[in-house]
Amino acid sequence: MDLALPGELAGPLKALVYYLPAYAANGAPVVVKGKRPIDGGRLFIDGRRILGDGKTWEGLAAGLAAGAAATALIVYPIVRDAALALLSLAAAVAGLAGDMLASFLKRRLGLARGAPLPVVDQLDFFVAASAALWALGAPIGPLDVAVLAVVTYVLHRATNYAAYKLGLKSVPW
Ligand code: CTP
Ligand code: MG
Repeated sequence: MDLALPGELAGPLKALVYYLPAYAANGAPVVVKGKRPIDGGRLFIDGRRILGDGKTWEGLAAGLAAGAAATALIVYPIVRDAALALLSLAAAVAGLAGDMLASFLKRRLGLARGAPLPVVDQLDFFVAASAALWALGAPIGPLDVAVLAVVTYVLHRATNYAAYKLGLKSVPW
């Protein structure tokens, strides 16, 4: 990939390309408002829901579809390398898994579906996506990831507030 960008911006902006499917995958479920919970309503050994009603099959499917669409329509045309583009798709899948893991942990902490868990709520998918990108050898530096983590936190707060105002979410986080 050869984006002509000025100095310090180049790193984080190039890295951002690899995160686009993960962002799309994380945002799409909020719009579909799924009804069939992935845990099927089942309880864990602590008597609380395994994942809760906030993690649905429809949301997961929408996330995978959005991640695949972003990979094919945005990432591949930019990087023009199928293997590199697939890294970003893997990051999106990892991000969805990370979001489910966060819900699992929230339920174990006794937090109801939708209850806030600061930082985890904003960065669960980003941390998982970053781990996948790192493990698969994506050409992204640690400083780029740090910059994008801050950007992601702020964007997540802003977009969730907007989704709340638009009536897509019942809570502003
Ligand atoms: N969503 C979904 N399926 C998923 C992920 C998300 O249907 N696999 C939808 C749900 O409507 C959810 C919304 O997207 O309420 C926002 O997602 P998130 O903030 O992750 O869920 P919460 O409702 O906050 O639940 P939790 O406490 O488990 O994080
Ligand atoms: Mg939430």
